[in-house]
Amino acid sequence: MGPTNNRGTRMIELINDDCRNHVSRIAEHDNCLVIYDPPYDEWDQVINVEATSKIAFTSPQRRHETENILGKPRNEIVWFFKDGRWVSKNLPRITHNYIFIYGKTSDAAVGPDQEIKTMKKGYTSIGKDNLGPRIFTTKPRKHLNSVLEYPRNMKSGSWGKPIGLLKNIIEWIDPDIVFDLYMGTGSAGKACLNLNKSYVGIEKNSDVFEKTKAHFRPENRQ
Ligand SMILES: C[S@@+](CC[C@H](N)C(=O)[O-])C[C@H]1O[C@@H](n2cnc3c(N)ncnc32)[C@H](O)[C@@H]1O
Repeated sequence: MGPTNNRGTRMIELINDDCRNHVSRIAEHDNCLVIYDPPYDEWDQVINVEATSKIAFTSPQRRHETENILGKPRNEIVWFFKDGRWVSKNLPRITHNYIFIYGKTSDAAVGPDQEIKTMKKGYTSIGKDNLGPRIFTTKPRKHLNSVLEYPRNMKSGSWGKPIGLLKNIIEWIDPDIVFDLYMGTGSAGKACLNLNKSYVGIEKNSDVFEKTKAHFRPENRQ
């Protein structure tokens, strides 16, 4: 499936290949987000690319390998899932992963709408009481929290990431185009459809690719 157009509106492109053959294209875009979500035991084969923004999914056990390849993240989000998984009988059940953030982000508020309220903020700290009460108005939407709770996306296989989680992060970073180097079930692509962002998804495994491609046919989109 190729680009639908090149006139500044959304395009969706899906590629069945090793992502490392396509990374040179990323430099053509000056506001792009690269998503890294490789199988965690293949982090040592990942290539670091230059991009405006990058996010990387990694686990407590693999975070050092991720840092070896991509460097120290500017910021990190903890993805908390109650439906955890066991890696060993002798260790705590894993109920979180990390999302490392590199490069540009925006100040966009994300997440569900909330009621707009104006309220008194109370007096300020000791010694500043003479400033009087201050007024504070909530934003129509909330800011991103550093811990995001989403159940794992088990419908699509054990490694599908939650579409809502990706939607919040992509909206916050606000790129013009997303390169999803390890597409899998295409959760990031579905988030991009929802946000009307351009998306390039790359998947090496042909069986996985064909299944995911079918989900992107107009008649199968939700
Ligand atoms: C953890 S899954 C990605 C899950 C995806 N983010 C989602 O939400 O569905 C990793 C995927 O990367 C694919 N993969 C592994 N190595 C790859 C490579 N070099 N190039 C492209 N895809 C690769 C695997 O076949 C697998 O489908």
